[in-house]
Amino acid sequence: MKIEVFFSPSQVDELFLREKNVIVIDVLRASTTITTAINNGAREIIPVSSIESAVKVSGNLFGDVVLRGGERNGKIIEGFNLGNSPFEYTEEMVKGKSIIFCTTNGSSAMVKARYAKNMAVGGFANVSKVVEFIKEVHEDFYILCAGKQALFCVEDAVCAGMIIKKLTDDPSLSLQFNDSANAAQVLYKAAAKNLLKMVKTCDHGVYLTEIGFADDLKICVDVDSIPILPQLIGNVLKLKKKDETKPSITIMIDTSAEQQGA
Ligand code: MLT
Repeated sequence: MKIEVFFSPSQVDELFLREKNVIVIDVLRASTTITTAINNGAREIIPVSSIESAVKVSGNLFGDVVLRGGERNGKIIEGFNLGNSPFEYTEEMVKGKSIIFCTTNGSSAMVKARYAKNMAVGGFANVSKVVEFIKEVHEDFYILCAGKQALFCVEDAVCAGMIIKKLTDDPSLSLQFNDSANAAQVLYKAAAKNLLKMVKTCDHGVYLTEIGFADDLKICVDVDSIPILPQLIGNVLKLKKKDETKPSITIMIDTSAEQQGA
């Protein structure tokens, strides 16, 4: 099994990811927020890469079963129902709802992987579920880090490194890694003893703390605290039912609108 890591979506074209197996990681905070929302009963999460798309998509969906969640510069987007703090996605707020989800890096990376054969959302909160899934599929996998504004971010790389370390701990697997995957494992080993310190000192962690989201950092490095696996089924993220397969027809989300800030 070959495992390759991309440290930022700018390193890969969406057509390259077509029909591939992809794990998208955005530790701070999209992956953790999505996993929390689905664990609290959200019906589905629809990732979009621009506010225009979010408005367009939610315009086509009716009734009060639709929420808009997301951020720009870490803060709630004007006119949206929710920001991007996992604490906001309570059961009371999201149970049974469809959530149009638009964040700077995470949702854009997820849209970039929309042609994948298998796409799942990973973070520290569900790291063992991600590893289990990779073993279950037992094919080559690409780990796509959402990064920060098309650049490298350490927290996503460390999480990718943890996934790789857990895979290497299984002697029954024959594994091959690209340089980025090997580098991610080195970064994980350096940060493993104190993941909270790692996110408190990384660029986005420092910024989120400055704007009042320090508590989010703890929940985003709480390893295996939410053991579920959000997967892309069609163009929505949800929990895959046992015999559910990816629909042959996928409704394309309009990503043409200018991506803001990504
Ligand atoms: C993102 O997707 O860019 C991040 O999740 C942003 C954030 O922390 O709100």
